[in-house]
Amino acid sequence: MESEKKLILDVNESPKEIGQWIILAVQHLLAMFVACITVPLIVFNSYEVGQGFANAGAKVSYVGLNGQSFASALIAPTLVAAGVGTLIYILLTKMKSPVFLASSFAYIAPMCAAISLGSVPLMKDATGALVAASEGASVVAAYGNIWALPIGMALVGLVYVAVALVVKFAGVAWLNKLLPTIVIGPVIMMKFACQLTKKLGIPTVISMNTIMVDGTGMCGACRLLVGGEVKFACVDGPEFDGWEVDFDQAIQRSRLYKTEEGRLMLRLQEGDTHSGHCGVCS
Ligand code: FES
Repeated sequence: MESEKKLILDVNESPKEIGQWIILAVQHLLAMFVACITVPLIVFNSYEVGQGFANAGAKVSYVGLNGQSFASALIAPTLVAAGVGTLIYILLTKMKSPVFLASSFAYIAPMCAAISLGSVPLMKDATGALVAASEGASVVAAYGNIWALPIGMALVGLVYVAVALVVKFAGVAWLNKLLPTIVIGPVIMMKFACQLTKKLGIPTVISMNTIMVDGTGMCGACRLLVGGEVKFACVDGPEFDGWEVDFDQAIQRSRLYKTEEGRLMLRLQEGDTHSGHCGVCS
């Protein structure tokens, strides 16, 4: 029987010692950097140059008319706002849920859409100054409607409020069905993520493309057991119900598959279900 590893901190627990607090803080700091810096960078480098310009289809940055990058101007306020928001959240929840609130990727699409409204493509004139781009010129940046951003964010906030109200009155079962947890990454990570979501009763979809080799159903590398049945990730997946996947078998098999002897052994063990044209045992 599979041994279940004890988590250092379960989802409903807070750190009990100063050492755990420090580790948690460093972990959140690293995660926070990704969100607080990546989101402004994605949004402000997302303007697609329209038809009629020399570099149509290229992505350029939003800048102020003085050439100042909105992204760099917004990273600092983002960090401050995230810090203040986190302190308020921690106070309101009485430290029951010690998490850092960084910027949300949910805001990227509405912010890109909002800032694109009325944006002016810019080119450099003979003196190097930024001016409105004329047709056929190469666009180097765009001047966006920065005031459209709060509108886009407020609309996303309203969606959050609406969903929160529905969750309060109807629970989360419908949400888990509509948007199941999706876990993609190393097999060992998916295994432990699924152990946790199973414990919490959250349906989970995983992707086994990490064990695929040729992706054609020929090599036999991606054979795995799902709900006790033999499946091939490249033919039957790669997405599967994470609760049903036998991760230990997949990990062990991947190890064996790496060597010629291992592939021969797998062919012997798996017989007709081997799908083996792996170059060694066909
Ligand atoms: S990747 Fe080779 S059989 Fe699926």
